[in-house]
Amino acid sequence: MGVYTDKVVPRVINVACGVGGETGRLRERVCRDLTGEVVEIGFGSGHNIPYYPPAVTGVDAVEPSDVGWGLAARRLEGARVPVRRSGLDGQTLPFPDASHDTALSTWTLCTIPDADAALRELRRVLKPGGTLHFIEHGLAPDAGVRRWQYRLEPLQKRLFGGCHLTRPIADLLRTAGFSIGALDVFYEKGAPKALGAVSLGAAVSSP
Ligand SMILES: C[S@@+](CC[C@H](N)C(=O)[O-])C[C@H]1O[C@@H](n2cnc3c(N)ncnc32)[C@H](O)[C@@H]1O
Repeated sequence: MGVYTDKVVPRVINVACGVGGETGRLRERVCRDLTGEVVEIGFGSGHNIPYYPPAVTGVDAVEPSDVGWGLAARRLEGARVPVRRSGLDGQTLPFPDASHDTALSTWTLCTIPDADAALRELRRVLKPGGTLHFIEHGLAPDAGVRRWQYRLEPLQKRLFGGCHLTRPIADLLRTAGFSIGALDVFYEKGAPKALGAVSLGAAVSSP
């Protein structure tokens, strides 16, 4: 990876994925039902830390970027539960089977090169009945927006560390063996539609 991807992109993401207004409200929504031992893939700079609810006992953060992890320092100091950087790659999680109660992924499935592998790993490490809580941007519900997404995706990937615009989030979850218990698909307020077509919900690992 080059200097731009290693040093600049995590700082841009830290600002772009901040917690201002609408983003903060969405983080609160997606985190509110987390319980017990949590695995969070694509932890970034820890913007979800203030939203972990009291039912969470600990968080295993999986994040490849040292810069992202460094930018989380102040939020980590204020964390109410132990947050450990336990892994570097969501595609190969260093945890035993059935070791976690819930999982969290926020704006991350767009960037992980093999999203299917990451979802299958989450299924493996979740206890039976364990739930993945997610908010992800992806393929828009409207054809007009989708056309723009396909046009812009090559540039988006180059500028933002491999971020895809057209991943079909619900389909990816189902293909990996999750059943989706709750799903809200909408355009995030204040974001361009091509970037802001989000899927927010919870999915349970099917037997
Ligand atoms: C758009 S950012 C989102 C960060 C954070 N989840 C948030 O909500 O602010 C995507 C994150 O995925 C991370 N990432 C990229 N490849 C990954 C991989 N293979 N496994 C886990 N995380 C990865 C990036 O380093 C980055 O922190």
